Amino acid sequence: MTGSGQDSGLQRLAGMADLLPLESKRWVAAEAIVRATMRQYGFGEIRCPIMEPTELFERGTGTATDIVQKEMYTFTDRGDRSVTLRPEGTPSVVRAFLEESLGAKRPSWKLFYIGPMFRAERPQQGRLRQFHQFGAELIGPAAPEADVELIALGDAMLRNLDVPVPRLVINSIGDKQARADHDAALRDYLTAPAAFARLCADCRRRTQTNPLRVFDCKNEQCQEVIAAAPMIDRFLTDEDRHHFDAVRAGLDRLRIGYEIDSRLVRGLDYYTRTTFEFKAAGLGAQDAVCGGGRYDGLVEVLGGPPTPAVGFAAGFERILAVSKLPVDEDRLDVFVCALGDAAFELTSQILAALRQLGLSADRDFLRRGLKAQMKEADRLRARSVLIIGDDEIAKRRFTLRRMDKAEQREIDAEPSQWTVDEFRK
Ligand code: HAM
Repeated sequence: MTGSGQDSGLQRLAGMADLLPLESKRWVAAEAIVRATMRQYGFGEIRCPIMEPTELFERGTGTATDIVQKEMYTFTDRGDRSVTLRPEGTPSVVRAFLEESLGAKRPSWKLFYIGPMFRAERPQQGRLRQFHQFGAELIGPAAPEADVELIALGDAMLRNLDVPVPRLVINSIGDKQARADHDAALRDYLTAPAAFARLCADCRRRTQTNPLRVFDCKNEQCQEVIAAAPMIDRFLTDEDRHHFDAVRAGLDRLRIGYEIDSRLVRGLDYYTRTTFEFKAAGLGAQDAVCGGGRYDGLVEVLGGPPTPAVGFAAGFERILAVSKLPVDEDRLDVFVCALGDAAFELTSQILAALRQLGLSADRDFLRRGLKAQMKEADRLRARSVLIIGDDEIAKRRFTLRRMDKAEQREIDAEPSQWTVDEFRK
């Protein structure tokens, strides 16, 4: 949220947001849908620390990525260790998988997570420095059906979250051999003087670190250079092709529509074979709402045995920016309107009794008059208002006004006589 309220001289950091109650209600509703859908697909929730040793991301996310090279919130802690606020969830999940010896317990694990991630990118619409993801990782299976399962889960998520017409784009970037051959060919192509001279400074660096990333560059001239570059599909091995064909056949069987884009390389180092992204309309340049792929080498890179895996992560901010998810505003069951000191003091006990019945109940703490309190009850969309004044206390009868039915009557002052229905039905 952006605001131009009172200036205390203290402001939140750029690219970070405050969520006020109405907005956070939408988030909680969306998180509930994510958890329910994950459960339907058999994924269990894993909660990893937000801060990890820097080395986890250097090795996991990869030193050649923009994330590690220029976007991490890294600092030295009080014990002189280099620590980093997680820029993504996948390396932590794999670390936990290894640290908890999950592979020895079962050959296949379905794990999901929800939480904040941190990347020091240039903030713009749909791009924050603290943003929130939900992600799913299926660790163990090598079968293309596992890729299909993850893509189907992403598809179901976006439908359940009411994201209008997401577009699925898929690609295969091959396994180790194809990637190495493609990298070599790309490097030759990009470092030829005519091409190199036209690249931006970042892409010149990428020709040495990770030439594949030139495909991701938004610079127009770099895009012109890369348009004629050798594409990965020429380098795929037979196994890579079979795998990709099987993924496509699986998606066809589920009637999940997709486009193939041989430029979809994604900005992380660990991908092998399948990569995919869901893009949504109405988001401008940052239109990827969900991205993922297969990462068969990552468990090994982080010190484990060779273990195939596939996963994705999706951005809450982008999804909620386009989601049509309705949020029903809260309605309070009972507002207790106290008039006079005795009533003011009695109100907390009355609230306790109402809440004990399972009702939502609230009051005014400012000793305001009837009119202001009724206005507050309106703001809270109270179904009932219980009016208590000196007369009511003396008579041991309170006035109950049903706002939703425009009725008013007296009720006994003794809470043990009350029923939920008279306040809420
Ligand atoms: P990613 O493509 O870097 O992949 O991020 C996934 C999603 O997070 C994006 O599609 C986008 O919706 C959201 N996102 C990323 N950066 C930002 C940002 N600065 N502001 C707002 N939203 C953002 C990963 O993170 C991988 N860990 C996905 C994965 C899991 N691959 C395998 N398993």
